[in-house]
Amino acid sequence: MESRKIPTFSLSRSGDRIPAIGFGSGTKQKRLKHSDLRYGMKHAHPALVQTFKEAIDAGFRHLDTAECYLTRIDVGTAVEQSGIDRSEFWITDKWDQGWLMDGKVFKSRSPSGPYESIKKCLELMHLSHLNLFLIHGPYFTKETCNVTVEEAWKQMEQIYEEGLADNIGVSNFDVPLLKRVFKVCKYKPQVDQIEYHLYLQQKEIVDFCKKNDILVEAFSPLTPMFSDRVGKNRPLNDIIARLCKKYNVEPNLLLLRWVYQSGVLPLTTSSNPQRMKYTFKIFDFELEPEDFNELQRIGQTFHYRGFFENYFERKE
Ligand SMILES: NC(=O)c1ccc[n+]([C@@H]2O[C@H](COP(=O)([O-])OP(=O)(O)OC[C@H]3O[C@@H](n4cnc5c(N)ncnc54)[C@H](OP(=O)(O)O)[C@@H]3O)[C@@H](O)[C@H]2O)c1
Repeated sequence: MESRKIPTFSLSRSGDRIPAIGFGSGTKQKRLKHSDLRYGMKHAHPALVQTFKEAIDAGFRHLDTAECYLTRIDVGTAVEQSGIDRSEFWITDKWDQGWLMDGKVFKSRSPSGPYESIKKCLELMHLSHLNLFLIHGPYFTKETCNVTVEEAWKQMEQIYEEGLADNIGVSNFDVPLLKRVFKVCKYKPQVDQIEYHLYLQQKEIVDFCKKNDILVEAFSPLTPMFSDRVGKNRPLNDIIARLCKKYNVEPNLLLLRWVYQSGVLPLTTSSNPQRMKYTFKIFDFELEPEDFNELQRIGQTFHYRGFFENYFERKE
């Protein structure tokens, strides 16, 4: 088992230190769980449990799950079977508030709000508390769930006050939605987990969060290296190849390092144990300022969003 000191980011209200890279159980892992109807929410999928145990073996202690991924049970089982003390893990989960996607409505799995959701989560994962609990997305309509974002945030605060989660936050919230929460909140969100990579730098949200002591977490940080996501012949291809040679790293490391150096916490995932271990090398090198800036500048010349376009790009 790998044992390493992982750098951390600090959360402003609690002072809790969150491992500066997280292992996700959505996307690829979620697709596997959703594709096999034998398992569902309540039964662990052996292949997924194995993947999360390999991630823990590789050194990951920050695990990211969510109600809608159906992977709570798989992550919880891997943590239990690892034999490592619960206090060494950082576990994040998210309330499924429901979704509007591809013209379809997906009703929340806990329509009365996050309180119902976290209670189910803790029972399934055999945990007394989460390190971080998030509202997963920006869809609050009569079709998705039975609460407004303001009502949902009040439940999040109750969750925090009752000690069910040490920290509370949001995901996929833009500035207007964060401001709606600010208007009613006693405790501000500690985290906003958003899609963030060189082709989606989300300057407005990131600047707003930094100004308000909200840690930004990045999902899909590797997006620029996949032509099946962004297409072929994109503007960063040449510079990524050149800088990989210069720093003697693979593209995934370069992209993760850029996210980390921008002050944002990357969440990645893999089903490949070699890749899992290799990820930690992001802490072994540093991009020189001119290389960091060039990546940033060239990244801004192309725009790609993989998730929730119907919400974020409605004004464009
Ligand atoms: N809040 C939200 O709405 C939201 C949305 C999306 C995701 N997330 C979270 O963020 C996590 C990460 O998102 P993501 O999966 O999009 O992240 P990503 O890091 O951009 O992509 C991960 C994919 O990259 C592949 N990969 C990793 N290293 C590689 C390498 N060296 N070469 C080639 N391929 C490589 C992996 O496949 P292999 O298995 O082949 O290595 C995996 O499928 C999710 O699991 C989830 O927890 C949250």
